[in-house]
Amino acid sequence: MALVISFATQTNSCQSYFHIHTLVEYWPECENLNPYLAAAILNIMSNNNSIHDFDINLIVEYYSGTERQGCGSPDVTLKALSFIDKLSPCSHIADIGCGTGGQTMVLASQFEGKITGVDLFPTFVDLFNKNAEQLNLQHRVKGIVGSMDNLLFENEKLDVIWCEGAIYNIGYEKGLREWRKFLKNDGFIVVSEASWLTDERPAEIEEFWMDAYPGIDTIPNKIAQMQKAGYSLVAFFVLPENCWTEHFYDPQAKPREDFLKKHAGNRAAEGFIENQRHEEQLYRKYNKYYGYAFYIGKKSDL
Ligand SMILES: C[S@@+](CC[C@H](N)C(=O)[O-])C[C@H]1O[C@@H](n2cnc3c(N)ncnc32)[C@H](O)[C@@H]1O
Repeated sequence: MALVISFATQTNSCQSYFHIHTLVEYWPECENLNPYLAAAILNIMSNNNSIHDFDINLIVEYYSGTERQGCGSPDVTLKALSFIDKLSPCSHIADIGCGTGGQTMVLASQFEGKITGVDLFPTFVDLFNKNAEQLNLQHRVKGIVGSMDNLLFENEKLDVIWCEGAIYNIGYEKGLREWRKFLKNDGFIVVSEASWLTDERPAEIEEFWMDAYPGIDTIPNKIAQMQKAGYSLVAFFVLPENCWTEHFYDPQAKPREDFLKKHAGNRAAEGFIENQRHEEQLYRKYNKYYGYAFYIGKKSDL
């Protein structure tokens, strides 16, 4: 096959946005796909152990060793949960892009109903289910493999759709619109999403984000998009800096060293860690201009 696939992934860590610098001759549409999905498809298309195969496995391996796969904290998860009323042990929450379940297990500590975690990567889902089992939550907290752009829930059955740091994979507006049908009429959506904290910002950080996730927007625009997608705004708040530092970047120091040791001499692994460090430096330099915000909405009439 005359395909020339030059594929390198880069994660912008809090986002874990797999920006695909992929040039696939004859398949330019690949760039518009969800990056994880594109990576998975490229894996299937290539029947040898080429770099893209390896990269996606490397990234999943790396994040399997970290408690969270994105920024957040138990405190902010519980704060967001506090805005949801009418939950009962009969309620059902779907946690989309759940990763290994850092936030899910926190939710389960305060909410007695059923939680279904959905993630694209079986390795994360296995760890999620092991974590649930260790906490003796397996009877009501279950991870399943699935894609957020093809969720298999029944319409109007969910009480809450939860999504921390993952909706960018489908796109904020698209996710809000497509997932709405799964919610009961009085259901809630809770998402955390990359947001500009100021109207203007230095070119370096603007360019970085436009490349990584052009869907980043100001908080008023994110709120307007939520309302337009058929939700009334219940609350929003910006995640404090410790969700990035103490709960996300700082705990990665050792996993990064271990990972580099294990994959010594591997350029893909070194490049990946270099990107992580670059993103962390940018966050520490420019965090007054951007961050993550929680947006909590209640399903409303369209
Ligand atoms: C930045 S991580 C956030 C994980 C977790 N919610 C947290 O805050 O620690 C994004 C997650 O989305 C998952 N993901 C990416 N594309 C997905 C898709 N199409 N469907 C479901 N999950 C997806 C990734 O595997 C990853 O676990």
